[in-house]
Amino acid sequence: MSFLLFLLLLILSSLTSHLNATTSLRIGVNLGQLGDNLPPPARSIELIRRLRAKAVKIYDANATVLSAVSGTGIRVSVMLPNQLIPSVASNQSFSDSWVSSQILPFYPKARIRYLLVGNEILSDFSISNSTWPHLVPAMANLKRSLRSHSIHNIKLGTTLAMDSLSVSFPPSAGAFRADIATSVITPLLRFLNSSKSFYFVDVYPYFPWAANPSSIDLDYALFAGNPSKYYTDPGSGLTYTNLFDQMLDAVFAAMTRLGFGQIPIFVAETGWPNNCDIDQIGANIFNAATYNRNLARRLSHKPPIGTPARPGMVIPAMIFALYNENLKGGPGTERHWGLLYPNGTRVYPVDLTGKLPDRKYPPLPAPTNNAPYKGKIWCVVDEEKGVDEKALVAALAYACGQGNGTCEGIEKGKECFRPNTVVAHASYAFNSYWQQFRYSGGTCFFGGLAVQTTKDPSYGSCKFRA
Ligand SMILES: *[C@@H]1O[C@H](CO)[C@@H](O)[C@H](O)[C@H]1NC(C)=O
Ligand SMILES: *[C@@H]1O[C@H](CO)[C@@H](O)[C@H](O)[C@H]1NC(C)=O
Ligand SMILES: *[C@@H]1O[C@H](CO)[C@@H](O)[C@H](O)[C@H]1NC(C)=O
Ligand SMILES: *[C@@H]1O[C@H](CO)[C@@H](O)[C@H](O)[C@H]1NC(C)=O
Ligand SMILES: *[C@@H]1O[C@H](CO)[C@@H](O)[C@H](O)[C@H]1NC(C)=O
Ligand SMILES: *[C@@H]1O[C@H](CO)[C@@H](O)[C@H](O)[C@H]1NC(C)=O
Repeated sequence: MSFLLFLLLLILSSLTSHLNATTSLRIGVNLGQLGDNLPPPARSIELIRRLRAKAVKIYDANATVLSAVSGTGIRVSVMLPNQLIPSVASNQSFSDSWVSSQILPFYPKARIRYLLVGNEILSDFSISNSTWPHLVPAMANLKRSLRSHSIHNIKLGTTLAMDSLSVSFPPSAGAFRADIATSVITPLLRFLNSSKSFYFVDVYPYFPWAANPSSIDLDYALFAGNPSKYYTDPGSGLTYTNLFDQMLDAVFAAMTRLGFGQIPIFVAETGWPNNCDIDQIGANIFNAATYNRNLARRLSHKPPIGTPARPGMVIPAMIFALYNENLKGGPGTERHWGLLYPNGTRVYPVDLTGKLPDRKYPPLPAPTNNAPYKGKIWCVVDEEKGVDEKALVAALAYACGQGNGTCEGIEKGKECFRPNTVVAHASYAFNSYWQQFRYSGGTCFFGGLAVQTTKDPSYGSCKFRA
């Protein structure tokens, strides 16, 4: 009898530990597809499976991706594009037909679990009138559309950036922006609370650190701070060991201020860039691997750690992103968030189950750009990639049209006119443009035609500004 009981207990415990092993994985990946060199969706899903990620988020409801992920058991978050929000909100039939055409063909074979309505819409002020007021009505219509097909296990949400807060430091002072708090956020939180969904937020410790590396310790941003660098919030008395927790607790505080402190957080995007331009800092393989490994370990911990203000809370997260995406504009970091290169090779190994201890990983290349580069930098044509003359001509014309006297130096008879080639003139123009605009958001990119260099491209009497 007692032996049978023992046997039963043994079976039960192995069953539950098996369940834990298969259901507790809290880390997924974002499948961004802004690259012209990325594998087809079926291969992407296979790569996600090999990373042992159990969840994927996409930025639309791409049919090829949804059929590729069908039957794999991977949980899926799909997104309704921002520009459809007004139509969905004002027209129940529109909502019904979107759900019928985009979701139903793949559900339930594709394990769609979250329908995210828009991407960081409250960061786009150009749609403040046209779209923000329609967010929650759109979510309500989509929920009705799903219910009409008796679908109860797809939750509605929307992903917001940290800039929906006007105060995030100290975390206990966290507050939503005044322009959205009562008009958009309160109805949103009421909806999320009553439908038992999550507040989805994109959380990137990289950005506050990179904007302020002298006042924030890098190790604190990488979950690797030592106790002398911990931060105690004077408002709450809580001690923070890392920047990620600090950012999440600012969101919790802001929700609490509006009366909805119990809504759980889902980290819709987080990560660390693995490379960057010369004038940026801290984006390298060492830091990216350290951040994502520590994140996976922390969020997968059993029992769940939570945050100082929400101890024990499970915090699911999606790492951004599967690939380095070469078509993203902006500074170099934007194109280097991937766990994988476009050819499917890992940029660095990372165990998303969080089980592998640091000592089991092979050594990482030492970081070289954790401090700002102090020397001069120029912006020139990236000749290594092979030169696309037609694109260069267009980029040259664009650059010359910006700023003051941008292309004077390459006018006929001027010191940089010769050699009179598109490449030479474009290099001059890119540099002249970038030197004027680099501190006001201008980037040295030009659709991939330009690259930063520390080697002075000046020659003879032709001087390149720096
Ligand atoms: C789905 O994604 C694939 C791969 O990026 C792309 O080729 C295809 O055009 C997308 N389909 C739609 C309908 O956007
Ligand atoms: C509502 O959406 C349906 C389905 O897309 C469409 O046929 C209809 O014209 C829309 N009605 C209005 C008033 O826009
Ligand atoms: C939104 O509407 C207000 C009031 O009509 C107006 O002042 C503002 O310029 C509009 N904003 C946008 C982005 O259209
Ligand atoms: C949140 O939802 C719970 C359960 O559905 C409810 O009891 C509570 O009153 C809601 N909170 C607010 C602030 O509406
Ligand atoms: C994949 O791409 C990376 C980065 O360009 C390169 O270092 C690596 O050798 C490539 N791997 C294969 C198998 O081609
Ligand atoms: C161009 O010149 C105008 C007038 O002197 C000035 O206001 C503007 O800031 C200059 N632009 C740049 C990019 O230097």
